[in-house]
Amino acid sequence: MRTMSMPSSIRITDVGPRDGLQNEPTPVSSEVKIAFINQLQRSGVAEVEVTGFVHPEWVPQLADADDVFSRIDRVPGVVRSALVPNEAGWDRAQAMDVDKIAVFTAASEQFTHKNINCTIEESLDRFAPVVRAASIAGKAVRGYVSCAVACPYAGPVDPAAVVDVVVRLLDLGVDEIDLGDTIGVATPHDIERLLVACAPHVSPAEVTLHLHDTGHAALACALHAMQLGVRSFDTSCGGLGGCPYAPGASGNLATEDLVRCCEMLGVDTGVAMPAVREASAWIEGALGRPPVSRTGATWTQLSSEQG
Ligand code: HMG
Ligand code: MG
Repeated sequence: MRTMSMPSSIRITDVGPRDGLQNEPTPVSSEVKIAFINQLQRSGVAEVEVTGFVHPEWVPQLADADDVFSRIDRVPGVVRSALVPNEAGWDRAQAMDVDKIAVFTAASEQFTHKNINCTIEESLDRFAPVVRAASIAGKAVRGYVSCAVACPYAGPVDPAAVVDVVVRLLDLGVDEIDLGDTIGVATPHDIERLLVACAPHVSPAEVTLHLHDTGHAALACALHAMQLGVRSFDTSCGGLGGCPYAPGASGNLATEDLVRCCEMLGVDTGVAMPAVREASAWIEGALGRPPVSRTGATWTQLSSEQG
């Protein structure tokens, strides 16, 4: 694959309210979530993944999904999306008039079983009527492939296994492929191998990358991916995140870390750093701990020096 120069712009989806808060041991009230989501919607990100219409017993932290979605602002130009695992989730999402849904499966049988209680094949069968209904309703559909690099239960994942799932999702008619490094262990080399394997079916320019940052290489992976043509990234404000069914996985690549790096490189993200800082301070205040992002650490340092 040819290495390209840095893009002039990228698209950011902040998944913090969903991926970030689904894994928090501290309960977060619906009011705090709503304020957080509204701040993110005004930060300049293209999309906010608001919540998941998943089973409340499987992810109790998102049990208020319907209430939260019904009360957030509609900010012109910002896509408000949510996870949908099956038809029951689609019914809930449709009632909330979501702009876009995300179906989610994985390239690992073990993870799929733990996360959504079925095989990969069964998950795709469940998605078929959901994708059809969403298309009729004029809603865009993202298709996540988790464990695109490694599985918390089965170890390294062969890119060929990812390609199989990507092809099946494209056949179902999803509009976007999102490759998830669920446990945050990818290296730039892994990302390149993955993009090369997927390229005959979906070009890097059509892929979204969803990087967790357990190995502290998510930023390096994102920069390398940009050079390989990827233009769309999931991040989370404050570096929140983690999947309750991926033990040991840390948060997503922090929005502020990617934005700051892009600012240094002249890559436009559309995101206003002061707004991300404010949203990060808000949610970390509610959670009672400092941000885990690198940029957040400099904010904390600067405020303590000034204070
Ligand atoms: P199940 O128990 O196998 O579901 O769960 P079921 O189809 O057997 O139904 C059992 C009952 O649940 C039924 O009710 C259904 O109506 C109800 P009953 O008849 O017994 O009264 N039900 C629902 N209720 C509300 N909303 C629904 C729903 N579906 C069924 N959507 C299920 C299967 C998929 C629902 C469950 O396993 C689940 O909700 N899993 C979600 C797990 C999750 O959210 N994980 C985190 C997100 S994935 C992630 O973080 C990775 C990602 O970030 C990318 C990356 O990092 O790689 C996206
Ligand atoms: Mg994730």
